[in-house]
Amino acid sequence: MKTAFFSTQSYDKYYFDQVNVNYQNELVYFEASLNAQTAVLAEGCDAVCIFVNDKADAATLEKLAEIGIRNIVLRCAGFNQVDLLTAKALNFKVLRVPAYSPEAVAEHAVALILTLNRKTHKAYNRVREGNFSLDRLTGFNLHGKTVGVIGLGKIGLAFARIMHGFGCKTIAYDPFELDVPAYIQLVSNEELFKNSDVISIHCPLNESTQHLINENSLQEMKDGVMLINTSRGAVIHTAAAIEALKTGKLGYLGIDVYEQEEKLFFRDLSESVIPDEQILRLMSFPNVLITAHQAFLTLEALTEIADTTLKNLQQIEKGQASLNSVLK
Ligand code: NAI
Repeated sequence: MKTAFFSTQSYDKYYFDQVNVNYQNELVYFEASLNAQTAVLAEGCDAVCIFVNDKADAATLEKLAEIGIRNIVLRCAGFNQVDLLTAKALNFKVLRVPAYSPEAVAEHAVALILTLNRKTHKAYNRVREGNFSLDRLTGFNLHGKTVGVIGLGKIGLAFARIMHGFGCKTIAYDPFELDVPAYIQLVSNEELFKNSDVISIHCPLNESTQHLINENSLQEMKDGVMLINTSRGAVIHTAAAIEALKTGKLGYLGIDVYEQEEKLFFRDLSESVIPDEQILRLMSFPNVLITAHQAFLTLEALTEIADTTLKNLQQIEKGQASLNSVLK
């Protein structure tokens, strides 16, 4: 199938070209992200392939439909960037990669915890400059601490498994009844906020989770709590998190996702004036660690993403029903 890739990065092209040898699709790569203005680039293609910050809103979907495209493959798990009601009304097929490597994301969440706690990023820079002082590098033992997991799906479970290995007490909130390993205690959101030393967010972004972390929920948390978000930026109300950092309520914040990330992430803005006051404020805190949506970025995950996406295109071409469809 002739497929237009939006928001293409060098690693997308590398892994998709490698895996596509087995599928023989015609892949057309664009650096531009998908929106109502850029949709026209896909003219002549059978499908578009998009990522987390592309916009498949109503206006974009209508433009795609106008040029005869009704197939979208998402090379990611989350699908909050697609207007599902419009997609359904316009008869689109929308397929995603529901699971590629939960461990890739879970391990990155753990990397954020360890870096924030043991300050290895600061130690690395100090030693390179000949500063061997340990002043202000004190961390805390993870062993024995309570770690709260919000969203106990594939990634949340992988994360809890690792933290259990560290000797942490793992508690979790998920609105759905789950059969979970004995070392995870299911609790209410309120109990999780109240008792956790570290909270890690692994739920999808939807109406029930948007700004789940807000002024009120932050107040319910332990003083000095560590908050980690590798899910979606808008689960945290950024302004409330900034206030909580200022008062010390939030002791550490590690984020791989950010509410306004579509204007920033996946670009080199090192020679630009950063057009976002909130991220600049976040960057100014010594106890905040930001990575630019890289939790998925392992070679295992990229290979799996390419393979499932190309399989999804194959199923669309053959008119087969797919378990990876997001439209029920
Ligand atoms: P999943 O669908 O396996 O699990 C999500 C879990 O969240 C489910 O058990 C669901 O019941 C639960 N959930 C739903 N609403 C909730 C709520 N209000 N409160 C608490 N839990 C709730 O999804 P998976 O694969 O574990 O991915 C989770 C999220 O991680 C994705 O939706 C995506 O946003 C994000 N993600 C981030 C990546 C990154 O590179 N930073 C890469 C891949 C996913």
